[in-house]
Amino acid sequence: MFTLIDLPYSYTALIPYISKETLEFHHNKHLAGYVNKLNEILAPHEFFLNYDIEELVQNLDKLPEDIRQAVTNNAGQVYNHNLYFESLQGGKQEFKLSKELGDAIDSFGSYENFQKLWTAAGVGQFGSGWVWLVVDGEGKLSIEKTANADSPLMHGRSPILTMDVWEHAYYLDYQSRRPDYIKDYFELMNWEIISQRYAKTLTI
Ligand SMILES: [Fe+2]
Repeated sequence: MFTLIDLPYSYTALIPYISKETLEFHHNKHLAGYVNKLNEILAPHEFFLNYDIEELVQNLDKLPEDIRQAVTNNAGQVYNHNLYFESLQGGKQEFKLSKELGDAIDSFGSYENFQKLWTAAGVGQFGSGWVWLVVDGEGKLSIEKTANADSPLMHGRSPILTMDVWEHAYYLDYQSRRPDYIKDYFELMNWEIISQRYAKTLTI
């Protein structure tokens, strides 16, 4: 069975950028809904319930064809949201970026340039989707965007950070002002965790 992750912070921790209401709906309604639906679809296919969510997302081609699209949608959303919620922190940004990841981000020109490119990807994603920071086999970073529940992990690449640009992630707080949500998102990124993920991709 897949389970709803606990948030590593309280529902009020991301204020003033993300409200308690948004976070409650997002975690306890949207993500919980995807987890429940995924378990329901896979109930007659118990074997796949032994996978962890990353394995499932990387092995969608092994699923019976009649459930593949529904599992892709729901497992994709579970994986994407887990990475999203586990990439954030509340309180004062401590900016514990490792030297290795800092150097890799400098390949965008500067941190400010990374912010510009990330923002352009988020604003440019038409409709619902996600923005990703992805690491290749040599440790080089790239920014990608995907639609709906898609992710770089489904295509064999290694994401270390994501941003949800579905309207449910920000509409209560920002209405249609997606650029403002993205601007504030930089205040929430947990660079210590993201640096750990980066280090892990280099040792695989
Ligand atoms: Fe979401």
